[in-house]
Amino acid sequence: MQIKNKLISRYVLALAGIIFLNSCTKKQDAFVNRKVSFNADWSFHLNDSLVDKDTIGTSTKWRTLDVPHDWSIEGKFDEKSPAGYGGGSLSGGLSWYKKTFKVAAEDSTKITSITFDGVYRNSEVWVNGHYLGKRPNGYIGFQYQISPYLHYGDKNNEIIVKVDNSKQPNSRWYSGSGIFRNVWIETTDKLHVGQWGTYITTPKVTAEKASVNIETRVQNDHLASKKAKIVTTIYKEDSKVTSSSREITLTKKSSILLNERLEVENPILWSDEKPELYTAVTEILVDDKIIDQYKTTFGIRDFKFDLNKGFILNGKQVKIKGVCMHHDLGPLGSAINTRAIERQLEILKEMGVNGIRTSHNPPAPELLDLCDKMGFIVMDEAFDMWKTNKTKYDYANDWDKWHKQDLIDQLRRDRNHPSIFIWSIGNEIPDQWSETGVKIAKELAAIVRLNDKTRPLTAAMNPPVNMNMNEVTLQFEKKNVQINPIAASGVLDLIGYNYAHQTYSHHQENFPKTPFIATETTSGLQTRGYYDAVSDTIKKWPVRWDLKFTEGNPGNTVSSYDQVQAPWGSTHEATWKVVKKYDFLSGMYIWTGFDYIGEPTPYEWPSVSSYFGIVDLAGFPKDVYYMYQSEWTTKDVLHIFPNWNWKAGQTVDIWAYYNNADEVELFVNGKSVGKRAKKGDDLHVMWRIPFEAGTLKVISRKGGKVVLEKEIKTAGNPSQLKLTADRSTIKADKTDLSFVTVDILDANGILAPNANNEINFSLKGNGKIVGVCSGDPVSHESYKGTKHTALAGKCLVIVQSGDKSGRLELTAKANGLKQATIVITAE
Ligand code: GAL
Repeated sequence: MQIKNKLISRYVLALAGIIFLNSCTKKQDAFVNRKVSFNADWSFHLNDSLVDKDTIGTSTKWRTLDVPHDWSIEGKFDEKSPAGYGGGSLSGGLSWYKKTFKVAAEDSTKITSITFDGVYRNSEVWVNGHYLGKRPNGYIGFQYQISPYLHYGDKNNEIIVKVDNSKQPNSRWYSGSGIFRNVWIETTDKLHVGQWGTYITTPKVTAEKASVNIETRVQNDHLASKKAKIVTTIYKEDSKVTSSSREITLTKKSSILLNERLEVENPILWSDEKPELYTAVTEILVDDKIIDQYKTTFGIRDFKFDLNKGFILNGKQVKIKGVCMHHDLGPLGSAINTRAIERQLEILKEMGVNGIRTSHNPPAPELLDLCDKMGFIVMDEAFDMWKTNKTKYDYANDWDKWHKQDLIDQLRRDRNHPSIFIWSIGNEIPDQWSETGVKIAKELAAIVRLNDKTRPLTAAMNPPVNMNMNEVTLQFEKKNVQINPIAASGVLDLIGYNYAHQTYSHHQENFPKTPFIATETTSGLQTRGYYDAVSDTIKKWPVRWDLKFTEGNPGNTVSSYDQVQAPWGSTHEATWKVVKKYDFLSGMYIWTGFDYIGEPTPYEWPSVSSYFGIVDLAGFPKDVYYMYQSEWTTKDVLHIFPNWNWKAGQTVDIWAYYNNADEVELFVNGKSVGKRAKKGDDLHVMWRIPFEAGTLKVISRKGGKVVLEKEIKTAGNPSQLKLTADRSTIKADKTDLSFVTVDILDANGILAPNANNEINFSLKGNGKIVGVCSGDPVSHESYKGTKHTALAGKCLVIVQSGDKSGRLELTAKANGLKQATIVITAE
């Protein structure tokens, strides 16, 4: 029914389009959306005995839900989960989704397809009993044409999807399970623009003029030849910029690839700072009627990676200040939600991040749309392994059969995104040091270049030169450097470094002809809000990734001073200092922007999520966030830490990150304890002082004038809760989210920095609580529950709207604390 309604509205829009076309061509009118969402009202059956499509009807254990959906996040953390600690100690399994739907009778003359943006993993799909196919890779989108199998009019259709994520482990991080991305129904005339049917490039860009090349694949599925007019119009916002038109004749059941060159005068260029977008609308007209409309968002920009100057965007040198991101959304698991991705990107943008690496797989399309709109320089990565497994049941087992198709689909799906600047054909591929690896790299490079020649190709090598970390200086002195065979083969346009920052300064000697990108760096480890009072006496955990926490802090905590790192990485400061120093280093992607589920390096229960994030799993920044903000933004920054709740007389190290000032001065209870100024390449300053309860105050000054002041006060006992919503008005569309921060305060309203109360949530109104999280990597409470234990005085609760507008009243309660209520409006 729902589809039918939506289809009807599609025609209303189409009509509007026709009226518009005949009356004026100045403005871009409401667009005919070929795609409608197919997310609502699926029946879901988890696991157990149902292994055969024909017996699934025998069970009654179905529940109704909307996709995107991740069933693993609903389960319990289990030390013995076959997914392992890498997989976040959550379980996979085998599940079924099914849905009944009607299709309007008038669509029987059309082409209907179903598109899944990603199903993890091994999905198999049937429509009305017809088997449509299998797709092992969980991260790539796929489409099936379903018109031949549909019933039209009042008769029901049934779609069944089997998802098999039972063989574990198959991932080094938390994958999630299920139809975890959007599903769409696409309906077009039999004469239509094909799937990913346009390819837009901007081969020549100057301030005065840009040439825009548009390739369009038009498909004729009629059993007769067709004459049509193809009109391509470029819009900037709502205004028409230019257009072209041509007549074509297509024989029955054939397709044609058209090539247009349009010119845009005085183009407004896309950049990370001003992500200006254009839209190309392709229309197919038969007898002056629009029968298909296809919209492509693109950007006009000119860039290169220079051997000496690094990354040049629109003639300007731009350092890539990027982060790696896995696809999970913390407490929401892997079920994608556009607002949740947008929030992550907003938090990163605020820190000064201008680049995202989609580690280590094709991302949700919505991430790329947002990167286009918000201005991120994306490295779009394809694989975490090729032929050789990293975990027993991973994609290497599907490699031979699927890698070509998966890579081609990723390239064709993604190549119009102006935010993408680099293709990565793989991360730390085990085959990289062998001849087989070189062969595969060449094959993949050929596929990439066939589908897109406008962006450089890299591989995230570990590392591009053979090095023993401890002897790195010695090896370089001895000129005893062995080059990674893939890097040596000349197949890459950019040499991609994972870690090995000690070798960056030698890049130009080792690779005189190939520019540099640090595909992955750092791997610092921190628990938000946890500190060893004296920074340099911390236990340097982990010494090695396979050593146990017994060498480290109680409760698997890691101190938040930027001093703990994975042995293959560096502190945050160390790598940035090098990347910052040399122009030829185009930039870096830090491991990672946000914490993610799984890979709690080192792998030790009870930890279930990572410590690598600059921002924790709940979205709360760790202290080092402000180091980057002070370096990567121009806004005034002054951040001091740790908290000011210690034992009387205890020695405490106070660190400050600041910018736009020549000195900072620290006061304890009004008395100065000294001025500090960064020297040389310092990125922070420090005072070592005895604790004295009261107020810690820091002032930054430039030329004697105060730039900023910050205070931290000693908190008393936890006494009350405070709720703050990131947005207090959200859309009543069943997907929008309000992220509400819970602060535990003392009686005077000061954050209690060590409070870890259990908080209970309840919600009144048409909406639901869809996630709770404190960012604590050792918490085993469900992210899907309605109660959660705070970490360092903070917790997050995520509220999702329903389909009705109105008030959503969220209340938080904890034993012994004054409760808090907040109202969110859904409209
Ligand atoms: C890298 C790897 C990442 C992640 C990281 C943790 O070597 O590419 O996927 O495992 O280590 O430090």
